[in-house]
Amino acid sequence: MIRAAHNGVNRGEALWYHAGLPLELPDSTAGNPMSAQILDGKAIAADLRETIKHRVAERLASGQRAPGLVVVLVGENPASQVYVRNKQKACEQVGFHSELIELPKETSQDELLRLIDELNGRDEVDGILVQLPLPEQIDEDAVTERILPTKDVDGFHPYNIGRLVLRQPILRPCTPRGVMTMLERTGIDLVGKDAVIIGQSNIVGRPMFLELLMARCTVTVCHSKTKDLAGKVGAADIVVAAVGVPKFVKADWVKPGAIVIDVGINRLDDGTLCGDVDTDPVSEVASWITPVPGGVGPMTIATLLENTLQAAELHAEQHA
Ligand code: GUN
Repeated sequence: MIRAAHNGVNRGEALWYHAGLPLELPDSTAGNPMSAQILDGKAIAADLRETIKHRVAERLASGQRAPGLVVVLVGENPASQVYVRNKQKACEQVGFHSELIELPKETSQDELLRLIDELNGRDEVDGILVQLPLPEQIDEDAVTERILPTKDVDGFHPYNIGRLVLRQPILRPCTPRGVMTMLERTGIDLVGKDAVIIGQSNIVGRPMFLELLMARCTVTVCHSKTKDLAGKVGAADIVVAAVGVPKFVKADWVKPGAIVIDVGINRLDDGTLCGDVDTDPVSEVASWITPVPGGVGPMTIATLLENTLQAAELHAEQHA
């Protein structure tokens, strides 16, 4: 069972402290070894959006323009259409100028690269996001590398990844950066913690490794050839699951008190959504857990806004 954080006190513990006095918890979970607090991505993302909205208002008041994001969607992948719509809506909410460019699925790589060149040259465009996956005639790496690094709000350009490797990040991949924001909100000192990431993708696993390493965790990245995955997860203080398999991470793998971050979003046959973590049983073992939906997903979008604002500020400095 998952219980929401309650004034920062974990009600799943047998005792809690008020005015220095230990009190018996009149709660059916008393006696459970642990009941995870929810790391509420929806609420943290709402907070972050408010901060961004405020900064946009300040920019406008000082005579600067609103940050501008252009999202490019090639083809009609239904999941991508939903993601793109959500990104547009989030931009409007915080007062960004946003533009959606929809191209047919037959678009050639050259046509897309020409569009990126044009967007790179437009001063009012701070961020360019080309929604992935792209149709097979287009090389995603060529597209990623064509976007100016200062407009690469996805943080996928080799320049931005290289900056992260060197611990001098500028624009950072949204999902891992959003996860770091969530981890900060637990108030737990990350230095020296053992972290395990399940999944080695360019979008999540690899930059997540770099973020956690930069936070001075000891990080292990697991993948399909990893030996004794359960053993490695069982040794971790922080587990990040980004594997794309529903309910993959089981409760008996997880160390009691671990922080569990679920990056997965999978649709089951009955239409419901679930993550890569078997959430209900794992939340009896973990200290903190992200729900699905309402965990990492909203943070990714809020972090895209954060990156776009950062890009706008960089461009303002360049033109000052
Ligand atoms: N497709 C799925 N996730 C992402 C993302 O974070 N950025 C882009 N550009 N495409 C995606």
